[in-house]
Amino acid sequence: MSQNPSLDQVTLSAAGKTVELPVQHGTLGNPCIDIARLPKETGCFTYDPGFGATASCKSAITFIDGDKGVLLYRGYPIEQLAAHSNFLEVAYLLMHGELPSKDGFAKFEDRVTHHTMMHEAFKSFIGGFRHDAHPMSMLVGMLGSMASFYHNTLDLEDPEQRRMAAIRLIAKVPTIAAACYRHSIGWPLRYPRNNLEYVERFLHMMFEVPAGPLELKPVAARALDLLFILHADHEQNASTSTVRLVGSTGANPYACVAAGVAALWGPAHGGANEAVLRMLAEIGDAKHVQSAVDRAKDKESGFRLMGFGHRVYKNFDPRATIIREMTHKVLDELGVDDPMLEVAMRLEEAALKDEYFVQRKLYPNVDFYSGIIYKALGIPTEMFTVMFAIARTAGWVSHWLEQQEDPEFRIGRPRQIYTGAAARDYPAK
Ligand code: SDX
Repeated sequence: MSQNPSLDQVTLSAAGKTVELPVQHGTLGNPCIDIARLPKETGCFTYDPGFGATASCKSAITFIDGDKGVLLYRGYPIEQLAAHSNFLEVAYLLMHGELPSKDGFAKFEDRVTHHTMMHEAFKSFIGGFRHDAHPMSMLVGMLGSMASFYHNTLDLEDPEQRRMAAIRLIAKVPTIAAACYRHSIGWPLRYPRNNLEYVERFLHMMFEVPAGPLELKPVAARALDLLFILHADHEQNASTSTVRLVGSTGANPYACVAAGVAALWGPAHGGANEAVLRMLAEIGDAKHVQSAVDRAKDKESGFRLMGFGHRVYKNFDPRATIIREMTHKVLDELGVDDPMLEVAMRLEEAALKDEYFVQRKLYPNVDFYSGIIYKALGIPTEMFTVMFAIARTAGWVSHWLEQQEDPEFRIGRPRQIYTGAAARDYPAK
């Protein structure tokens, strides 16, 4: 339930005026003061850089309780979905609001499977990138260009065309992602195999070599499916908020998701998983862990422990807990002995004992361990954030669909505190 259901309005005195502001409640979480009338009645705006205390919309998709380390997708705890579901079923759940029937899932899976191909023109597009282009730069460009292939099915007033665009994005992002990887290593692109399931199909497009069949290890597909579930959605994070802001202008869903990919790229957000592996490699050995922790505490160093801290979780990120356990299992089953894991374990141990991190509630987040698993699966570091984007596409399209049907839908337009020069005249010549 809402944390304070009896609170139905607040009184605010500002600029010599007193105003009663209504309080809105969701099913769960913090009550929200509705400040829409504030400027008109007091002439004041609110100020909240980074929107850490601001609800930008109403959503029924994901709920997070940062203090308790709770994450629910459409009410289902992430721990239960991780244990019993699969990524495509989670994508259906996020999009539709309910788990699918057996027949409903079969139909959804069939629709996704039959939209995995890319237009052949994509090949010349991707061929235009340098071989060493970062795959996130290719992904942003190719997703944005999808609108040019589907311009006659972009009537956003038509719910079926909106749903089709969402299905196309979920279906094609793995194909495009694998193409980015194969372009970077100079291998021929691989077409999606419809006889494979979603994650196996992606792994096949990534790693199948022209010289012979790919021997998929079941643990690899299971681990990746779980990582995709854990990364599928996360409320109004920076990239999802970007998708919604772009969507609020009426832009097409391909442009919205391309903008989400661009936002996810940053090392403070989805780019953290790539940054974690680079940080662990830089630390190199468990004996250098303490000096890294000391550097992260020194503000002058500008160095942060990547994979630690979170804007919302001030407790363990429940996803990190699940990934942490799986990391050991995957490395054991794959017979991988990765010294990075030892460095990660020592770093986590040192940070969780250090007052600086404890006082600031800086715990490992979802990105801290995921890179170690991606590495064990043979996925190169620069592809880590692409993996995050494949999974988060399910969340992005679900939020975009929800936004398109929101009765309070309106263009996003924050205000500012102006700190520039007061009005002045252009100097006479
Ligand atoms: C994701 O929003 C989401 O939901 C995101 C995500 C999702 O699923 O979409 O969960 C995915 O983006 C996870 C976060 C991945 N990013 C990183 O791992 C990068 C490292 N972490 C930080 O940059 C930072 O913790 C943030 C960006 C994640 C959160 O930043 P906040 O909440 O704005 O925290 P802050 O910058 O205000 O820091 C509070 C204090 C500061 O010290 P003081 O000024 O109080 O002395 O904590 C310190 C910071 O210097 N601090 C860190 C730190 N993170 C914060 N110090 C060292 N190492 C860190 N990682």
